[in-house]
This record gives sequence, C-alpha cells and structure tokens, in this order.
Amino acid sequence: MIRPFLKWAGGKRQLLPALRLHYPASFDRYIEPFLGSGAVFFDLCDTGRLAGRRAELFDLNPDLIGCYRAVRDRTEDVIAALDDLAARHQKHGADCYYDVRDGRFNPARRSSGPDRYTPELAAMFIYLNRTGFNGLYRLNRGGDFNVPAGRYENPRICDADHLRAVARVLRGRGVILERRPFDHALERAGAGDFVYCDPPYAPLSATSQFAHYTAGGFSPLDHLRLHQAVVDAAARGATIVMSNSSAPQMTAAYTGYAARRSGLRVERVPARRAINSRAASRGPIDELIISNARTVPAFAAASADKKVRAASEGDAASPMLKAELRPRQSRRASGT
Ligand SMILES: C[S@@+](CC[C@H](N)C(=O)[O-])C[C@H]1O[C@@H](n2cnc3c(N)ncnc32)[C@H](O)[C@@H]1O
Repeated sequence: MIRPFLKWAGGKRQLLPALRLHYPASFDRYIEPFLGSGAVFFDLCDTGRLAGRRAELFDLNPDLIGCYRAVRDRTEDVIAALDDLAARHQKHGADCYYDVRDGRFNPARRSSGPDRYTPELAAMFIYLNRTGFNGLYRLNRGGDFNVPAGRYENPRICDADHLRAVARVLRGRGVILERRPFDHALERAGAGDFVYCDPPYAPLSATSQFAHYTAGGFSPLDHLRLHQAVVDAAARGATIVMSNSSAPQMTAAYTGYAARRSGLRVERVPARRAINSRAASRGPIDELIISNARTVPAFAAASADKKVRAASEGDAASPMLKAELRPRQSRRASGT
C-alpha cells in the first residue's frame, strides 16, 4: 500500500472517501498544484488510477519539493541518514529534535534550494516532520523552521521499504515534481486534465490560521487569483476537484455566477481538523468540495459497488444487472 510519507497539516487522508466520489472515470493527465503530503496523488497511485498517465505535481514549499526529489533520486542515502537520526532520537528524544532543528537543519537549509537539497537535509526534514508537533510546517520571521517537538511515545521515523516504494512511484515515467506557484500549474490545465486543488485554507475566524507552509503565507488576494484560475481551467474543460474551508467568502466565491457558469458545484462535507493546539476547537467542522466532475452520489456508489460484485461473482439472479453494467455500445448491439 502506498500512502504519504510525510504528516502534513491539512493533509487530506481523512477526506479521501468524500473526494473519491469526485474522481473522474477517465482523464489523460493529473495535475496537483498544492501537493503537500500528496494524499490524493498517492491514493490515485494506490488504486491504479494513474497507471500509464502523466502526473504533474507542484508546491511552492522549497523544503517539501527538495525532500521529495531527494527521496526520488537518492533514496538509499536518505534512508541511511534517517536511520541514524531515528537511533539518536531513541536515545535522546526531544533533545535530539532541538539539536537537529537548530544546530543542523536550519543552518543547512539556508544555503540550499530544492535543486540542491542533500539526502541529509531530506532525512532531517522527514525526521522533524515525524517527531514535531502535528506535522506542522512553520517558519519564524527570520525564515527558520521553528515547530516545537511533538509528544510521541514511539514515533515511526524510518519506514525504509515504504520510502523505496514512494521513490519508485516518483521515478515513474511521466511524473513531474516542481517547485512552482499554483498559477503555473493551473494555467496549463484544459480538456482531458484532472486537477486536484487543495490550497491553504481560508481561515474560519481571525484566530484560526495555523499552517503557513511558505514564507509568504496565502493571502486573500491569493485566494481571489486562485478562484479566477480555477474558474478559467474549468471553462477550458479541465475536471476540477478542490477542497476548501467553509469560510463565508469561499462559499460565496464558489457558489457565485462565474463558478456556476463554468460548471463548478459546491458540496459541504464534515471534516475533522487536527492543526489547532486547543483541544476544544478540534471538533468536526464543515469543509467544501468544489467540483465540476460528474459525481456519483454516495448511495449510488455503494449500490454500484454491490452490482459490480454481484455481476463479477456470477450471481444467478443478476442478468439485468449484468446488462446494466455492460458498456453502452454492446447493449445497443444486443438490443437490451
Ligand atoms: C493544504 S496543503 C496541501 C495538503 C495536501 N493536499 C495533502 O494531502 O497533504 C497546501 C499546500 O499548498 C502549498 N502552497 C502554499 N502556497 C502556495 C502557492 N502560492 N502555490 C503553490 N503551492 C502553495 C503549501 O506548501 C502546502 O503544501
């Protein structure tokens, strides 16, 4: 099973059951402008939906893209360095975390970009990600990573076989990984493309912004530009699936005339966030799935699953179901 190798604030693993209902049945190319830990990308790989297709993966965070590339290109060196950090963490716990963060990671990352990310930096990034507070990525004003240590009893730091499996997927023909802003990713999208867009969420209240991901943050103006880019890509024929917060300005923008005219519809789904450190505000909150994909309502998806199973198990009572599942053309030919 292939899954994200990073814990990422705002990662979408918990939303996958709702998002899967919007995956298009067919597409030529997959584009993801806000990759993060890649929950949807890895889900598509895991379920074979990306086989033989191009996948273009983008994110603006230089550490993130640098780390993915090092895992892809220098897998065994990353694993060796990470094994070493895991052994040291076992002995020294949080002291090791702060030594690595302040003494090695921050000084080294200042002089590197995604193209010069060494296996040692990638290993440190994975180590800090897996042992830091809630998989958060945050920089201080000076640009240094300043997330505090998390409180984990026995964190799984190095899963070597899984990293090798991830590297194989990333080395696949047609997989592109670049540090680019979302505009670049979206302006290339058109007919035949499936775009999954998961931007930093617009805050629900003045105090609820926790994840910054990049030095510049994601401003209301970025949300406006993203709205326009998504509407344009949908109008050019791309299949869009987007997750977003249910902040009133997001609901208003994506239920507005321009979005509706380009075929986008909004669905509210309950989601649980774990970014907030105050336990009281960790309860379920609605978020939005915005999409122009032809969706299968949950009850229909479940009943289609049953039909597929019944037909493939040769259920004697299902000739009608089999006819229903047969491709349209052959149905026409046999007159059913
Ligand atoms: C909510 S997270 C994506 C989470 C991802 N779907 C997952 O499953 O982990 C948003 C991502 O957008 C990236 N980002 C922030 N500003 C960006 C921009 N202007 N262009 C592209 N990516 C950006 C962040 O680095 C972050 O990884």
